[in-house]
Amino acid sequence: MTARLRHLTTLEHMPRITIVHLIKRAIAIRDACAHGTRKLNTLAGRTVLNLFFEPSTRTRTSFELAAYRLGADVVNFDTRWSSTAKGEVLHDTLHTLEAMHLDAIVVRHKNTGIADELTRHAMSAVAIINAGDGHHAHPTQGLLDALTIYQYRPDFENLTVTICGDICHSRVARSDVHALTALGTKQIRLCGPATLLPEAFDYPSCQIMEDFDQAIEGADVTILLRLQKERMTASDVPDKASYFHRYGLNQKRLARAAKGCLVMHPGPLNREIEIASNVADGVQSHILEQVANGVFMRMAVLDELLTR
Ligand code: NCD
Repeated sequence: MTARLRHLTTLEHMPRITIVHLIKRAIAIRDACAHGTRKLNTLAGRTVLNLFFEPSTRTRTSFELAAYRLGADVVNFDTRWSSTAKGEVLHDTLHTLEAMHLDAIVVRHKNTGIADELTRHAMSAVAIINAGDGHHAHPTQGLLDALTIYQYRPDFENLTVTICGDICHSRVARSDVHALTALGTKQIRLCGPATLLPEAFDYPSCQIMEDFDQAIEGADVTILLRLQKERMTASDVPDKASYFHRYGLNQKRLARAAKGCLVMHPGPLNREIEIASNVADGVQSHILEQVANGVFMRMAVLDELLTR
């Protein structure tokens, strides 16, 4: 039995046992719901609210489907037309929503720390789930990436994982590193142009590299990241063609990785910038499987937070 999770705002300091428990729960749920074709009823009578202040395709839809498939009611709060647009502070929005009784709030926001802030201000038993806060954390993405890797390579301790792209603005990279480190992966390489690499002290367990040809050498898993222009100053935005030339994953580069290297990307992907189309759609790509796993992992997280 793992310690009870009350909220999910980060994977930092999450013990291995909890991550493994969530991976196994997601697999059990996937089987019980027959890959999404059968509805479960474990959250009947519960209400989940999606509160997204930033664009999202995969994360928002998969949280919505996850809640529906567990029998919960789902409310998608349209932040464009809400009172936040009239200047209401987030704490007042939170308390207003709590007064209507909610079991979980899934929040995405451009500011780092918003999800933690909501956990401190919540007045009810509502569970807060972070769906991405600035460049800080995206815990369910870290968990679904771990689940995707686990299906092929459960021997996390032996893996070399290369994460390439806009690392310094990436909440996905941070959450992936937290999950992989907890699961015992010793070889984690973070690669990108110098302007998009983090400070080494932020990632003490990782190797920081600028040369993708070196970084991908012998890798068992390669995770590509989008250039997150919305978080960059104009001078940091690399030229697309030269970026693809140095950091794009093409067939030739992939051949340097270990045989059968898993190719992953959290999406949205930019073809011919961080990844060549024939690699994104190739046999080693697990990108759509990550999307499918996202629903099962979010079902596991909602079930864990709301039924224990
Ligand atoms: C990521 C995000 O929003 O952090 N996307 C996602 O949730 N699948 C990555 C990105 O936007 O590049």
